[in-house]
Amino acid sequence: MTWQFVIDLDELEIGEVKEVSLDSKISVVALRTDDFVRVIPPLCPHMEEPLRHGFCEGNTVTCSKHFWEWNANDGSVLESADKPLHMYESKVENGKVFAFIEEEFSYEYD
Ligand code: FES
Repeated sequence: MTWQFVIDLDELEIGEVKEVSLDSKISVVALRTDDFVRVIPPLCPHMEEPLRHGFCEGNTVTCSKHFWEWNANDGSVLESADKPLHMYESKVENGKVFAFIEEEFSYEYD
């Protein structure tokens, strides 16, 4: 795969965390802050909670289940998380969000 269209920017509010199906097999989650948009895998790296239930405040994204928190810009761990959040390379062009997805990313769970 190459650059994939994810969502129109005007369909993603600031602070929103939204799951999008790219095709019959791959879903991603798009999130938007005041400053940027990022595209991540749909499940939490902790215990597979769908991250569409999570929330984004400022530059922090949080899973709704056990409240692991990550830096929304680069997926690095904040206080409660043990594993980083994978981020697909993404960009916004002409009001459209794209992600570079060579293959679906999935975490290894213990
Ligand atoms: S499942 Fe997301 S923090 Fe535990």
